[in-house]
Amino acid sequence: MFDTLKQDIQELLAKNAADPNGAMQSICELLQGSIPYYDWVGFYFKNGDKRELKLGPYAGAPTDHTIIPFGKGICGQVAESNQNFVVPDVHAQDNYIACSLTVKSEIVIPLFKNGENIGQIDIDSDTPDPFAKEDERFLEWVNQKVADIL
Ligand code: SME
Repeated sequence: MFDTLKQDIQELLAKNAADPNGAMQSICELLQGSIPYYDWVGFYFKNGDKRELKLGPYAGAPTDHTIIPFGKGICGQVAESNQNFVVPDVHAQDNYIACSLTVKSEIVIPLFKNGENIGQIDIDSDTPDPFAKEDERFLEWVNQKVADIL
């Protein structure tokens, strides 16, 4: 599954290299539509010089959390830690921002440009504990490819 998606993403990025937002939007829709346990897929980016994240392209239900301060929630923690954060059960997390009552698990992977953590891809799942190492490697790859056109 991930190998086919990688090919699709390569083609999509080649076609949309001049339009990063359009490319990211298409990636969100592709992933959300192709992977059954990816229920919400979105990118957050550092908001200028502020210590906060701003929602970028996403696919899935609209969220109220378009701005997330560094340190808050899973996303805000990844903005500071520069590390992948896999959450098998969101209800076991103290520092978590609920976007939808149906969400059971989450994965957030930082996006680096020239070694700097400038944003992240965030996936919410309605399935408990669905994320494996393969998801981490795949999403790291996606972020590297996106960084190349930013
Ligand atoms: N759950 C995230 C907030 C973003 S929504 O999932 C879209 C968090 O705790 O950072």
